Amino acid sequence: MYELEQPDSVFVDRELAREQAFSKVWTAELNDVFADVAKYYDCANRVASLGLWDYFQSSFVSTFDLKPGYRVLDVCAGTNAVGIALLKECPGLEVHGLDRSAEMLKVGSATARQKGLSITNSLGDVHNLPFEDNYFDIVTLQWASRHLRVMKAFDEIKRVLKPGGYFYHCDMLRPHIKTVGILYYGYLKMCLTTTAWIFESNQAALNCRQYFLDALQLFYSTEELADLLSEVGFVDVRHQNLLGGMIGFHKVKKPE
Ligand SMILES: C[S@@+](CC[C@H](N)C(=O)[O-])C[C@H]1O[C@@H](n2cnc3c(N)ncnc32)[C@H](O)[C@@H]1O
Repeated sequence: MYELEQPDSVFVDRELAREQAFSKVWTAELNDVFADVAKYYDCANRVASLGLWDYFQSSFVSTFDLKPGYRVLDVCAGTNAVGIALLKECPGLEVHGLDRSAEMLKVGSATARQKGLSITNSLGDVHNLPFEDNYFDIVTLQWASRHLRVMKAFDEIKRVLKPGGYFYHCDMLRPHIKTVGILYYGYLKMCLTTTAWIFESNQAALNCRQYFLDALQLFYSTEELADLLSEVGFVDVRHQNLLGGMIGFHKVKKPE
């Protein structure tokens, strides 16, 4: 378990520590995990969350201000869960998804097609987005920031947002209450083993079980991530904790 000596110290130091600890997993191993997980990702999440997954999704989507015609980018889109939920809420959106995993996007494209929804998916890295500056009204990122160099990724998200555009973020975060953290990490450990067994995960996914816990423990609380978003240059930074800080939502604006 990682001990954070100064949880509120300069973000650059924490980002360096995360990079040193996880860069091998981020650049190589995670892609093999998501290639394997793609076929059972949506189902496994419903099992692991004890059926709360759709509640988390609809709670997050309820924080969005949407208008038909808005151009929306979902980064680390995976199986297009957010894009699909947003299009159900507001069918007139132009939705783009970007992810590094071809397998996850393939499942997402098939699901969107089955539902008669149109999402333009591209393969790419969130740290280097293949879009021009000031292009999107909304960018969103769900369940993936723990796996990223967040300062770099948030800066890139800010670049592609129009001035006055909004970034909506949701992830599993580091609870600021110690007891909640102990229960949370214990549950996750049990859950990662059980779902790996039920869904017959490959070796890459089995190897990464400890990473998923370590990545969370070295990550930020909802409040710390709000401060980091301000430091990156977003304004009107709002945040909300769910389940005692196990999950955090952020809504932030690119300055006009
Ligand atoms: C836990 S899944 C979340 C998927 C989706 N956002 C959702 O809400 O279900 C994490 C996703 O992040 C993607 N990912 C991880 N690192 C990435 C990167 N550097 N650039 C783009 N996608 C990345 C993975 O391929 C995976 O599909």
